[in-house]
Amino acid sequence: MNTFTFYNPTTLHFGQGQLEKLTAEVPKYGKNVLLVYGGGSIKQNGIYSNVLHLLKGIDAHVFELSGVEPNPRLTTVHRGVELCRNQNIDLVLAVGGGSVIDCAKAIAVGAKYAGDFWDIVTRKASPTGALPLGTVLTIAATGSEMNSGSVITNWETKEKLGWGSPFAFPKFSILDPAHTTSLPENQTVYGIVDIMSHVFEQYFHHTTNTPLQDGFCETILRTVIDTAPRLLQDLENLEERATILYSGTMVLNGTLSMGVRGDWATHNLEHAVSAVHDIPHGGGLAILFPNWMTYTLDANVPRFKQFAQRVFDIDASSKTDRQVAEEGIAALRDFLASIGAPSKLADYDIDESSIEVMADKAMIYGDFGNFKKLSREDVVNIYRMSL
Ligand code: NZQ
Ligand code: ZN
Repeated sequence: MNTFTFYNPTTLHFGQGQLEKLTAEVPKYGKNVLLVYGGGSIKQNGIYSNVLHLLKGIDAHVFELSGVEPNPRLTTVHRGVELCRNQNIDLVLAVGGGSVIDCAKAIAVGAKYAGDFWDIVTRKASPTGALPLGTVLTIAATGSEMNSGSVITNWETKEKLGWGSPFAFPKFSILDPAHTTSLPENQTVYGIVDIMSHVFEQYFHHTTNTPLQDGFCETILRTVIDTAPRLLQDLENLEERATILYSGTMVLNGTLSMGVRGDWATHNLEHAVSAVHDIPHGGGLAILFPNWMTYTLDANVPRFKQFAQRVFDIDASSKTDRQVAEEGIAALRDFLASIGAPSKLADYDIDESSIEVMADKAMIYGDFGNFKKLSREDVVNIYRMSL
């Protein structure tokens, strides 16, 4: 186990009816609230009117930034930063999914930075502070509600890049499973895949003596694999929604990376695909992760064998370690197919002609990945396997 420092200041309000906590949280920061949301789902499912009702009850002055795109754009961050400056905003309140929250993080940090926010994403400048940020989550997927990361797309340069700062942690996040019941099946699947992928990124490492970390990861994976089919049969089931919602937050709030060094190569591969083709993050991960596993298997066969046995109950008797490991990866492919996740880039009409440009985007900071360092050649090979 490696040494580590754990820091997470986000207050979590979880469960049905917790939206009311807005009335206690918002006044801590001031009157002027910038409400940030996406393309309109919160108006259709009633969350918008419930939030406004509560904010009205505490005499908040509400300003709105709507239309945050899935894979949020830098141009939208700029609009939000302008609003914060012009309207003297005290609190940025994100109501939506990871895209809305990531955009709101960028706005909150950008409001305290005099230059162009892209400087922060591209590491030319460091954040110097942030407006307080609160979130009301509507989709279980990214974990952005309880972490300090954010992913922003610059559509002009076709770059989708992650950035992070301790200033970007939400002060509070409200997670009510009832807010996720309106999610359609495909978005539910993408969220499930993203959650599982976050576990994979932190499970495939070479650090030794990590029994508790392994157990956390394996239990969450088994729980998600067990819950997902029931949820997909019954999208409004609050118990199943709650399990997935809780899983999504716990896998990317720093808990699973305590004492280990995660990989994160597949996320980098996916962000490059999304940067060029604007596909859903979870859809891209469903395609890429099994291929990354097959490609990197030899970096640590025992690790993949453990994954196969403990997550998918693969029987190891009279098989080589490699056979067991391969059966685990095959079981993952079968599971992803069973929940209707995409399995090849062709499912998004992406073909051979995109590989070089996607590889350029993936290599922007050079070779990457901690479990197995990927060179440009490796990246091209994995994309090719994923066609
Ligand atoms: O825009 P609206 O109308 O709200 O619709 C959204 C959007 O179309 C819809 N939706 C959300 N909640 C809903 C709903 N529809 C009906 N009912 C609801 N309750 O779902 C669609 C997808 O939303 P989005 O926010 O894009 O999804 P997600 O949470 O998966 O976020 C994806 C973004 O987060 C980044 C991804 O790369 C991508 O840009 N990530 C952020 C991370 C982080 N900050 O820690 C880590 C992740 O690995 C990821 O990279
Ligand atoms: Zn992800």
